[in-house]
Amino acid sequence: MRLTKRHLWTGIGGLGVLGVGLAVAAWIVYEPEIPKVPRPDPRMFSSETIKRGEQLATAGDCIVCHTADNGPAFAGSRPLATPFGVLYSNNITPDEQTGIGNWSAAAFRRAVKFGVGRDGTHLYPALPYEHFIRVKDDDLDAIYAFLMTREAVSKIAPPNELLPGLGIRQSLAGWKLLFLHDSREVVDEARSTEWNRGKYLVDGLAHCGACHTPRNLLGGEEWGREFGGGVAEGWNAPPLDKSNPSAARWDVETLVKYLSTGTDTAHSTAAGPMGPVTEGLSRLNKADVHAIAVYIDSVMHPDRTGSPVVNAEPEGVDDKATGSEAAALFQGACAGCHDPASPMAVRGRPPLSGTSDLNSNDPRNAVQAVLQGIKAPVGSNAPYMPSFADNLTDRQIADLLDYARTRFTQNQPWAELERTVHGIRKENQQ
Ligand code: HEC
Ligand code: HEC
Ligand code: HEC
Repeated sequence: MRLTKRHLWTGIGGLGVLGVGLAVAAWIVYEPEIPKVPRPDPRMFSSETIKRGEQLATAGDCIVCHTADNGPAFAGSRPLATPFGVLYSNNITPDEQTGIGNWSAAAFRRAVKFGVGRDGTHLYPALPYEHFIRVKDDDLDAIYAFLMTREAVSKIAPPNELLPGLGIRQSLAGWKLLFLHDSREVVDEARSTEWNRGKYLVDGLAHCGACHTPRNLLGGEEWGREFGGGVAEGWNAPPLDKSNPSAARWDVETLVKYLSTGTDTAHSTAAGPMGPVTEGLSRLNKADVHAIAVYIDSVMHPDRTGSPVVNAEPEGVDDKATGSEAAALFQGACAGCHDPASPMAVRGRPPLSGTSDLNSNDPRNAVQAVLQGIKAPVGSNAPYMPSFADNLTDRQIADLLDYARTRFTQNQPWAELERTVHGIRKENQQ
């Protein structure tokens, strides 16, 4: 083929398009470094600002993700399991070498809202900036004041363990283009100030949707399906909209109780990753927790009239189920706490018949509760549930849950339970 002038121009044109494309890509990826500043003098911040920052940081769970088990507060290194591998949180104490001691307030705001480190590196959305982007600058400055007045700890996080190919931070710029929306707070004048405060906290700092909204294959929250239910660390985070199977039994009062103590008598105890969330909320002021409950209640019951349904009394023993091997196993392993006449029931704990997990269409959380157990909420004297992973086989757990579901609820039995238990057990070991 002979090269003609037209070929030449097409070639140059093609290169031009490619060049512009690369320039645009570089422009999207590039974030400048924000210069270091001397570590701010703690006396710079007023005690009111620091106190407000502490409450806001509590609502944002900063300490939960940024503190390793038994490690110093805010010093990072907590592993976070994501579908894309394990990430380690950073040190956000004011240490100058290993923490954020040399970060200006502007660098801090950019990191928390837009997921860009001080040096211009893109951060993974495990730091929930999809939500934090909605937080007011004034509130972030208060959190900055609070963190800058904590004790500096020298600690470096271990390197992340991501699936091959996902360690390229530049690709996060593209992810943000798709999924990060800078949505400013809109006040709904038709609603109360409390409702608006609740929405502001839920959408922003408290990032409830990070777990309770389904995610697409690329890990972005699905548009238009807010609070439709998601998955977090191997547990289902149930829907918080009107599709919640227990919606009829939730109201503002039970939500406040559950969120601020980790347990209520209508639905049982916050297990799995919801446990630390309630632990955080237990330290949040009552007015803010109430506002969160008011907002969530309105999402769950867009058209509620009348009062919530009260838990049914525990069902009587289903005759068909007694005498079986599963009944004997339940008697031995579970009845000490879960029999309607057990001391736990007598102390006012919710009967299994009322727990969201036993009534859910999906057995995942009930299986996780048996495999992993349930930690008693901090500061409460509620009984805990031990882990049975080492003592029961997949078959036994399936039989027990099948027995409990038939005996204590009116729902259809779960299908393929043993296979589900097997699968979840394997996931937990990864
Ligand atoms: C769900 C867990 C989670 C929560 C909640 C969370 N973070 Fe993080 N944060 C992370 C992870 C993981 C990283 C590291 C991301 C990476 O390596 O790309 C991070 C990174 C950061 C960084 C960047 C530090 C650096 O050296 O680059 C800052 C600043 C930060 N978080 C502040 C906060 C604040 C303030 C809050 C509370 C308002 C908060 N985080 C809540 C998980 C979390
Ligand atoms: C880290 C993930 C995560 C975050 C963040 C989170 N949740 Fe949850 N939530 C869960 C999981 C998992 C469960 C199921 C717990 C169980 O089975 O006991 C749950 C359960 C609940 C329930 C009980 C639902 C039912 O029908 O039993 C409510 C209510 C709830 N969350 C509200 C909230 C609110 C409000 C927020 C924000 C302040 C929030 N959650 C933030 C993971 C999360
Ligand atoms: C030492 C006491 C104890 C024992 C033994 C025990 N559990 Fe539990 N279980 C609890 C507590 C506490 C809860 C949370 C309910 C509450 O708040 O009272 C719970 C909750 C549950 C739930 C609901 C999960 C949720 O998130 O609400 C299921 C399902 C369950 N248990 C099954 C079993 C099975 C099956 C056994 C026997 C293998 C068993 N439990 C043994 C204490 C116990």
